[in-house]
Amino acid sequence: ESSKTRQLITLHEKAAEIYHHLLMHTTAGQEALDYLLKRGLTEELIIEYQIGFAPMQREFLEKIFKNEQLSAEFFADSGLFVVRDDGQLLDRFYQRIVFPIRNAQGKTIGFSGRWFETPDFPAENQPKYLNSPETAIFNKREVLFNLDKARGAIRKTGEVFLFEGFMDVLAAWQSGIQNGIASMGTSLTQQQVTMIERMAQEVIFAYDGDNAGVEATHRGIELLKESSQLKVTVLQFPERLDPDDYIRKYGGEAFQQLANHGRATVFAFKMAYHRLNRNLANENDQLEYVEVLLNELIEVDSLIEQDRYLTQLSTEFQISREVLQQQVRQLKQQGR
Ligand code: GTP
Ligand code: MN
Ligand code: MN
Ligand code: MN
Ligand code: MN
Repeated sequence: ESSKTRQLITLHEKAAEIYHHLLMHTTAGQEALDYLLKRGLTEELIIEYQIGFAPMQREFLEKIFKNEQLSAEFFADSGLFVVRDDGQLLDRFYQRIVFPIRNAQGKTIGFSGRWFETPDFPAENQPKYLNSPETAIFNKREVLFNLDKARGAIRKTGEVFLFEGFMDVLAAWQSGIQNGIASMGTSLTQQQVTMIERMAQEVIFAYDGDNAGVEATHRGIELLKESSQLKVTVLQFPERLDPDDYIRKYGGEAFQQLANHGRATVFAFKMAYHRLNRNLANENDQLEYVEVLLNELIEVDSLIEQDRYLTQLSTEFQISREVLQQQVRQLKQQGR
């Protein structure tokens, strides 16, 4: 660990403390704190995760850190600032609720900031979330949010819940699901899959129930199938809700129930997925759908599972089971 790495981490830990203090104990952070509490986060959780607030000032951190004996270049490389043409450092994060991003050792190495919308500061063309840029200590392809806190529960259960958003991880945590992690708003990377494989045997996708979430789940399943031995299951959220919305609407216990007893198999997920852009009242779409699913079915290892889905398809579309089975056999041979 180089001294620059150490110094960068120290700077981030200080920034996290300052942002957190601002949220918890100052009038500048009051509105944002009220918002988080109203969204159902407890004060305890906000403290545990050191959530903070970056105020609507471009020279807030800059002024605080001015007296540190560190070079302008060091600050510029830290990712906490953007450098104006004239060399002036401006805070990267302002008017945002900031989530410290910690590495697997629990050290803060970056931030993700959610724009805090008020009548005075509408979202307009601000991105909803802003992440730290890539730095010497922050490589978002290798970061899994909450891994430091979730690792024990992941190892113990052999299971890991994968969420899209930080708020989902936190809401799940409060509901008692403490083996949840999220990538940094991007699709899963090979490095992240490798990290997961070292700790767990099963990945439970718990992405948002909207189309984007379902598409991302589909891509994630393909990636895991190609690049790992992990077992995969899926939580499907109704009404396009994300896990956090779901918990707020139906409660933490309903979520626990879904998380522990409502996991769909990959094939059950695919049945729902391939329905999305098809109109199954239409005969053409029906035949196409059955064909696509049979192609998926040959990927299912368990014969018992295969048998069950064959029956399901046969019943729903009134196609004889024998024909379906024969088709599966053919597809398997072609696949060889
Ligand atoms: P809330 O709206 O506060 O409930 O957050 P959310 O987690 O539901 O947000 P959303 O489903 O829109 O996005 C999921 C995740 O994608 C976020 O946690 C971010 O990591 C990422 N994300 C969303 N919007 C942006 C964006 O504008 N820029 C970047 N870089 N990432 C984003
Ligand atoms: Mn979004
Ligand atoms: Mn989303
Ligand atoms: Mn969401
Ligand atoms: Mn949400």
